[in-house]
Amino acid sequence: MSAGSKSVLVPTDAELLQAQADLWRHSLYYLTSMAFKCAVELGVPTAIHNLGGAASVKDLVTTLSLPETKLPFLRRVMRLLVTSGIFASESSADVETYRLNPLSWLLVEGVDAEDHTNQRSFVLATVSRHYVEAAMSLADWFKKDLAPPLPSPFEELHGVPLLHEKTPLLDKDLHDVVLEGLAAHDNLAIGTIMRECHDLFRGVQSLTDCCGGDGTTARAIVRAHPNIKCTVLDLPEVIKTAPADGVINYVAGDMFKSVPPSQAVLLKLVLHHWSDEDCVKILEQCKKAIPSREEGGKVIIIEIVLGPSLGPIMFEAQLLLDMLMMVNTRGRQRDENDWREIFMKAGFSDYKIVKKVGTRGVIEVYP
Ligand SMILES: C[S@@+](CC[C@H](N)C(=O)[O-])C[C@H]1O[C@@H](n2cnc3c(N)ncnc32)[C@H](O)[C@@H]1O
Repeated sequence: MSAGSKSVLVPTDAELLQAQADLWRHSLYYLTSMAFKCAVELGVPTAIHNLGGAASVKDLVTTLSLPETKLPFLRRVMRLLVTSGIFASESSADVETYRLNPLSWLLVEGVDAEDHTNQRSFVLATVSRHYVEAAMSLADWFKKDLAPPLPSPFEELHGVPLLHEKTPLLDKDLHDVVLEGLAAHDNLAIGTIMRECHDLFRGVQSLTDCCGGDGTTARAIVRAHPNIKCTVLDLPEVIKTAPADGVINYVAGDMFKSVPPSQAVLLKLVLHHWSDEDCVKILEQCKKAIPSREEGGKVIIIEIVLGPSLGPIMFEAQLLLDMLMMVNTRGRQRDENDWREIFMKAGFSDYKIVKKVGTRGVIEVYP
């Protein structure tokens, strides 16, 4: 082959057939998302739960009051969702029985159990028309030479940012389901996080949960560590609806202006919504709020730390959440180098990833 000539990849017959199957999968994965949306909207997980945890497609058609004629179609949807790992199934005597697995269990409504946070709204928000249309506009967005600060594809297409006071003007139902989905997402596995991170709060006397919303996380912290004086900072419109429980001190304010002083500041699932420049500004305010490292001052960050170390499935999940941020917000998910860079820019001296909890890392950042 002459120098400079391009090498031509010639797949084998087997590789070609595999490539075609892969091409189908990658072009058609949106149908898995839509079949998932369909099952959630129909209430299939709750129906299986109410039927005692196992249901045939005939049981589902009857319970969900669907026309008999749709039975073979629902079977096809369920077959795809079982293959995709969304439901479990078993067959005996020619009858396929569908069961819940941990994923579909997250979608059952009306469960009163510790650690159960129904994720229905998260699914419905992420597969909503507005999110999907924003994702479909990605190539157009890339081609436009937009002035900084760069709007997200969502903002560019729909004219308003997501999670903004103007979002309800675009679609009030979308705004409501996004807020509900975000709360469900952020509160999922809070018990696990508290169990896994028990030592993290040992010795901490006071803590500000920055962007702590309605105080769900702060209450879980105080339940596990009653000696910690806990403050929640959030925007005035959020704080005015927070439950006055006498345990948590709620402060209405703006984290870009100031953060209530305490020994430690918690930023749980906050920074991925913001650009690097904004993260530096937020962290600078957090640094002003805490004492020196010798006096126990630290910022605790619970966020995704992108990386392949947890295996390809977890890494893919992290990367999909990064795409979710890219399409819909000005934020992003970060790897350890990205985190280090913003900590140093904000004037911190050191940091430590103290724990991995699922796809997320728990990072302590020291002044
Ligand atoms: C993604 S949620 C935070 C999740 C929460 N830390 C948790 O783990 O459940 C974002 C929160 O940030 C609050 N927020 C947004 N901008 C803020 C600001 N400038 N100052 C204080 N809070 C803000 C929002 O009101 C919202 O409650």
